[in-house]
Amino acid sequence: MTSPATEPLKFAYWVPNVSGGLVVSKIEQRTDWSYDYNKKLAQLAEKNGFEYALSQVRYIASYGAAYQHESTSFSLALLLATERLKVIAAVHPGLWQPGVLAKWLATADHISGGRAAVNVVSGWFKDEFTKLGEPWLEHGERYRRSEEFIRYLREIWTSDAAELNGDFYRLHDFDLKPKPLASEGRPHPEIFQGGNSSDAKGMAGRVSDWYFANGNTPEGLAAQIKDVNAVAGPLGRRVRFGINGFIVARDTEKEARDTVREIIDKADREAVEGFGSAVKQAGQSTGDKTGMWQDSTFEDLVQYNDGFRTGLIGTPEQVAERIVELKRAGADLILGGFLHYLEDVEYFGQRVLPLVRELEAQQLEPVA
Ligand SMILES: Cc1cc2nc3c(=O)[nH]c(=O)nc-3n(C[C@H](O)[C@H](O)[C@H](O)COP(=O)(O)O)c2cc1C
Repeated sequence: MTSPATEPLKFAYWVPNVSGGLVVSKIEQRTDWSYDYNKKLAQLAEKNGFEYALSQVRYIASYGAAYQHESTSFSLALLLATERLKVIAAVHPGLWQPGVLAKWLATADHISGGRAAVNVVSGWFKDEFTKLGEPWLEHGERYRRSEEFIRYLREIWTSDAAELNGDFYRLHDFDLKPKPLASEGRPHPEIFQGGNSSDAKGMAGRVSDWYFANGNTPEGLAAQIKDVNAVAGPLGRRVRFGINGFIVARDTEKEARDTVREIIDKADREAVEGFGSAVKQAGQSTGDKTGMWQDSTFEDLVQYNDGFRTGLIGTPEQVAERIVELKRAGADLILGGFLHYLEDVEYFGQRVLPLVRELEAQQLEPVA
C-alpha cells in the first residue's frame, strides 16, 4: 500500500445543487443551482482534474439557500452526464431507511460503472427534522445512529445473508442483489462522513472510509487526524482525510484578498446570523463543545463550512503552496468551493493544479 505522502492529492468540488452559491453574500456569484449549469460544471470539472463531486443535502432554506435540489437524484443525474467523476450523495440517517439507500447506491453504482459514493451526515439543522415531522436526537445519539447506519451499509453490501441487530436498525438474512460493483481496493461505494466533534472523530476511526473536515488550518487539520487515527490505528483501519476550502485564486494576491473582502462586506447579515444560531446544534451542543463551527466568527460563517479558514486565497503559486502544506498535515483530498464556478474551476485546473503536481513531485525527489 502506497503511503499518503506519495499518492497525488485528490480534488473534489462542492456541487451547487442549492441556490445562493457557496457564500452567504449579496456579491455577484456567477454560479447557478440548475441542472443544466451543474451538468456543464461536472463535465468541466472532470476535465480539470477533479476526481470527486460532493452534493449537499438540504430540505429547507438555510444559509441563504432558498431552493434545493435533492441530493441523491441530482447525484445520479451528474453521474449520467460524466465519465470519470465520482459523485458523493449526502444523506441523513433518520430520514433514510438504510436498506433503501443501500439499494439506491447499488443501482447508481451499476448505472455509473462504479462511481457512486455516499456522505453520511449526522445533522445540525433541527428545524429541518422537526418540520419534516421527524424526531431530533441529541448529538451523541445522532452519531450512534449514523454508526449503525454505516455498519448496516457495509454488511448489506458485503454479505449474502446480512445480519444486524442494532438499537436503531436491524437486518435479517438479507441478500441484496445485485451488490454494488467491487474493484481493487474498493469493495463497495466509498463511505464519507461530515462532522468534526469527538463523536464524529470516534465514528470515523471505527467505520468510515473518509473523514471530511470543515475549513481549518494545517495545524487544526493535523490535530483532528491524530484523534481519528488514535481510534483507527488499534483497529488496523486506514481512514482518509478531506478538508473543505473556499478557493479564490487570482492573478494577483490583492485581487484575491479584495474579492474575499467584498464577499464579507456584502454578507447577508440576517441569513448568516440565522445560520449561526442553527449550527449551535453541532459541536457547541456536545459535552466538550468541540466540532463544526465550535468557534466560527461571523466572517467564517459567510462561507458556510468555514472555507475561508483554510487559506486557499491568493495567486496560483500561493494557493498551490498552501495546498501542499495541507497535504503535509495529512490531507488526502481538497474539497473546493468557488465564487464563479465555471470560470474558477477552469482557472484552478489550468493555473493551480499543475503547480500542485510540480510541488508534489519535488517533495518526492530524494534529498541530495
Ligand atoms: C464536508 C462536509 C459536508 C457536509 N454536508 C452536509 C450536508 O450536505 N447536509 C447537512 O445537513 N450536514 C452536512 N454536514 C454536517 C454534518 O451534518 C455534521 O454531522 C454536523 O454538522 C455535526 O457536526 P459535528 O459532529 O462537528 O458536531 C457536512 C459536514 C462536512 C464537514
